[in-house]
Amino acid sequence: MGEAIEDVHQLDPQVFWEHARSFEFWFGAVQGYLEGSSFGRHPEVPEKVREAAERDRLVTVLSNYCVGETIALEGAGALIRAAPSRAAKVFLSTQTVDEGRHLEVLVHRMLELGVTDPEAEIARRASPSLREFHRRHGELVRSEDWDAALFAQNVILEEMEFAVFHRHAQLADPRTREVLLGIVKDERRHIGFGENELGRRLKVAPEVRRRLAAVRGELDPLILATFREAIAEIGGPAAEREDLSKSYLQAVARLGVS
Ligand SMILES: [Fe+2]
Ligand SMILES: [Fe+2]
Repeated sequence: MGEAIEDVHQLDPQVFWEHARSFEFWFGAVQGYLEGSSFGRHPEVPEKVREAAERDRLVTVLSNYCVGETIALEGAGALIRAAPSRAAKVFLSTQTVDEGRHLEVLVHRMLELGVTDPEAEIARRASPSLREFHRRHGELVRSEDWDAALFAQNVILEEMEFAVFHRHAQLADPRTREVLLGIVKDERRHIGFGENELGRRLKVAPEVRRRLAAVRGELDPLILATFREAIAEIGGPAAEREDLSKSYLQAVARLGVS
């Protein structure tokens, strides 16, 4: 797990800045792992979830993942307007497509598991802390507070999603595993973009750090609470719940936001 998380930062920041924010880069990336797949996985992968209790726990976790992906989808699309450069606007348009795909494949996985009304299940099973994050993130996006909204979305939310999805993939049934591993590959790019943008911004405007620290103090407990619950549902040991915030804490340390 550690290796893949560190992998997020293997791309040189200057190379990322010059190349990774384009549709050219995006198309080459997704083609490699989505070609030949249907709803995020290869069609022949067998269904292994048969026990009712396991299915129910998985539907709860997927419902929460759907809320996380909805937050990122709404945010990536709406932030195009506030983005400070054309290259950032182009990147956000690729991220919007990715997030829409993530939401689609997760909802499709719920349908495969026998859920007849995904909207109703998501509404019933979403954790209160994630709903509150959704509400606060929406306020930041609507106020076009670029630094704060991007930090909440591409660092706080996505670093933790990345860690939980990656760990869940190791414990999951084969269909869920393949869907999650495809999502994680996209999240790496989104996290790289968030850190790259904010790192550059903080170099020229270090005073923004204090604002981001306030956002962190308010919003990261909400995401931590949600994903600790998710790890408990998928059967990870309690010690692992702490460990999952490690890559997130490393990211905020790199940005100097404490
Ligand atoms: Fe996503
Ligand atoms: Fe994402």
